[in-house]
Amino acid sequence: MQVTIIGAGYVGLTTGVTLAYLGHKVTLVDKNPAVISSLEQGKSPIYEYGMDVLLPKARRNISFTTSYAGIDGSRVILIAVGTPSKENGDADLGFLEDAVTQIAHSLSGTGYPVIVNKSTVPPGTASRVNTLVNNVLSGRGLSPGVNVASNPEFLREGSAFWDALYPDRIVVGAAEPSTRELLTELYQPIIEQNFTAPPSLPRPEGYNGPVLFTTNPLNAELIKYASNAFLAMKVSFVNEFAGLAELLNADIVEIAYGMGLDSRIGNKFLQAGVGWGGSCFGKDARAILYTAKKYGYSLPLVQGAIEVNNRQKKLVTSKIRSTLKTVPGSTIGIMGLAFKPGTDDCRETPATGLIAELLNMGAFIKVYDPMAMDNFQRLYPDLPVEYATDLADLADGCDALVLLTEWEQFKNADWPALRSLMKKNIFIDGRNLLDPRFMEQSGFVYRGVGRHV
Ligand code: UGA
Repeated sequence: MQVTIIGAGYVGLTTGVTLAYLGHKVTLVDKNPAVISSLEQGKSPIYEYGMDVLLPKARRNISFTTSYAGIDGSRVILIAVGTPSKENGDADLGFLEDAVTQIAHSLSGTGYPVIVNKSTVPPGTASRVNTLVNNVLSGRGLSPGVNVASNPEFLREGSAFWDALYPDRIVVGAAEPSTRELLTELYQPIIEQNFTAPPSLPRPEGYNGPVLFTTNPLNAELIKYASNAFLAMKVSFVNEFAGLAELLNADIVEIAYGMGLDSRIGNKFLQAGVGWGGSCFGKDARAILYTAKKYGYSLPLVQGAIEVNNRQKKLVTSKIRSTLKTVPGSTIGIMGLAFKPGTDDCRETPATGLIAELLNMGAFIKVYDPMAMDNFQRLYPDLPVEYATDLADLADGCDALVLLTEWEQFKNADWPALRSLMKKNIFIDGRNLLDPRFMEQSGFVYRGVGRHV
């Protein structure tokens, strides 16, 4: 099937590469010429596990362009542009409206494609996009016959290809049976799992394909917000209990394990830590709160999830204060800048707030991340921090180390050797990654999250 994707960010690029790998003919449009020229040279502008294997394999079915000129023959146009937060929390639909307007101006009026929105957008957007595109067409003297659907994405950064090839569900929000059929055809290879799994992304044992759920566009838009808000709330819930567990001398890792054994609760997203970050949870929670407020309604659980998360982000500072005693003049090493492992994305990462606070308190900050240092430096060029070349360089001369991202590399480090390079021996494990007893045996004063050890 001929497919156009607008926006070569995390969602657009991974979706485009996946669809091309599955045999569709994909045109990926992005207004940023640097992104397009890098992709044309076979280089991905983002790190995503599996991209190095899938992009070359998808290459013969995918083309990259900054122009909307060639979109006319597409049967489906997927929009995957950013919807950042406005100051008031509302989602900024500027990029989406630009894209829709340009699409409407590029269609010739014969055999319209279906416009499918993948970006996370406020409820009711599909209907507004429908009005916008068809008004432009009418203004051009063409018949207003474009259908608009909502098909939210549930990809996690770092495992986006995994989620794209082996999703739990595909949600199609479309009013017309013809649109539902078209999107079912688009996802047929995934629904029936009739593709050769890449060796680095093998089909999970017992996996038989996703549930295809069709509903109307409004429900589909809300499924996305409700899902992200629920996951954020689940993490905030375990973090809230982590604080109590610590005061009671209990262990949140064991508590979460015990909770997760109940299949109604499940064991995922119960890992206590320094709080959730990333470009989605915060933005989406703020946007749905804004929508609710517009209708005179409130969402106290979502609001609470944000409040707990903000409190959680301050946790490390208080642990540093209580263990290190004098922060001014101390050297603190930050392990992990990405908002989670497996990605170089530093948007809304817990690291930024913490680093700013520690700098304010007069500490000298060194940082290290196996993947995200370039990105971090690009996003926060003015932060006065020293970028370490590896873990040993980071630990050298530090009074305290603070682990913020649970990279596998950190788990397997030679901790006794790293300890010997440090001035003092404080270790704050913001992700409960390491074994407390082992760390104490290695000579550290160890503090985790929600475990009094
Ligand atoms: C999230 C959702 O999981 C995806 O389904 C969704 O498609 C995506 O947002 C989006 O809307 O685009 P993502 O932001 O990539 O995906 O990352 P997650 O794996 O959900 O993690 C979010 C944050 O929660 C991270 O900072 C992570 O460290 C934190 N987290 C997660 C915890 O602190 N504890 C946990 O147990 C799980």
